[in-house]
Amino acid sequence: MSAAIIDGKAIAADIRERLTDRVNDRIRAGQRPPGLAVVLVGDNAASSVYVRMKRRDCAQVGFVSHDHDLPADTDQAALLALIDQLNASPEVHGILVQLPLPDHIDAQAVIERIDPAKDVDGFHPRNVGRLVLRLPGLRSCTPHGVMTLLAHTDTPLAGAPAVVLGQSNIVGRPMALELLNAGCTVTICHSRTRDLRAEVERADILVAAVGRPGFVPGDWIKPGATVIDVGINRLEDGSLVGDVDERAAERAAWITPVPGGVGPLTRATLLENTLQAAEALDG
Ligand code: GUN
Repeated sequence: MSAAIIDGKAIAADIRERLTDRVNDRIRAGQRPPGLAVVLVGDNAASSVYVRMKRRDCAQVGFVSHDHDLPADTDQAALLALIDQLNASPEVHGILVQLPLPDHIDAQAVIERIDPAKDVDGFHPRNVGRLVLRLPGLRSCTPHGVMTLLAHTDTPLAGAPAVVLGQSNIVGRPMALELLNAGCTVTICHSRTRDLRAEVERADILVAAVGRPGFVPGDWIKPGATVIDVGINRLEDGSLVGDVDERAAERAAWITPVPGGVGPLTRATLLENTLQAAEALDG
């Protein structure tokens, strides 16, 4: 058996097209275009690439991108003052501070300074708490995007054993909550999990967010499983690979490619969240 590929690029392109129509409707109705502030501190190479793509996506769907590129030695007070200014700006509906931040900045303090109504990353404790409680709110982009990908497959979620590899605040934890909210029976695995192979072998749905190339061997995959690979790892030859060995495709029913699987959905979901924030703030 060879897995069907979940084409994140195509799904994201459809989402952007629908968003463009909704933005045009809002502008015709006399409303402001959604505005997304993307804040980059320092010159981390990967972050610079992601930020450039997010800004380009904004332009493509008719959002206004408010660009703030700050030097690596920006102090915490200056960054918090910028957040205050963006919180107060009626032109800004979403605020994204690209992570990781330089070590001298307390990232959690920055996240908590963002108005939860503009927290399009869904990282503020208020929004994470709303996800825990199954209340509507702004949901983290990667896990929310993964749920959109799953909806484009025929994977049954209710009652299904789902395994999440990784317990980060950005992916693993909110991912487990998303799957739980969808009715899955969820296991979160991490560096201290005793028998990782046994856990992975039980998974009808496997979400790998470890950040280690080929970490999951292909022969651990349950035949017919749906495999979502969140990892984007750059090898020495410059190529990008996921956390799951590519031989997983011989056993899975559905699998995401790397690149072109989860990444495009993370960015498309950021746009969806920004429009959601604009609708909540401006009506
Ligand atoms: N760094 C890696 N992923 C993300 C993300 O989803 N949002 C932000 N703000 N920074 C990140």
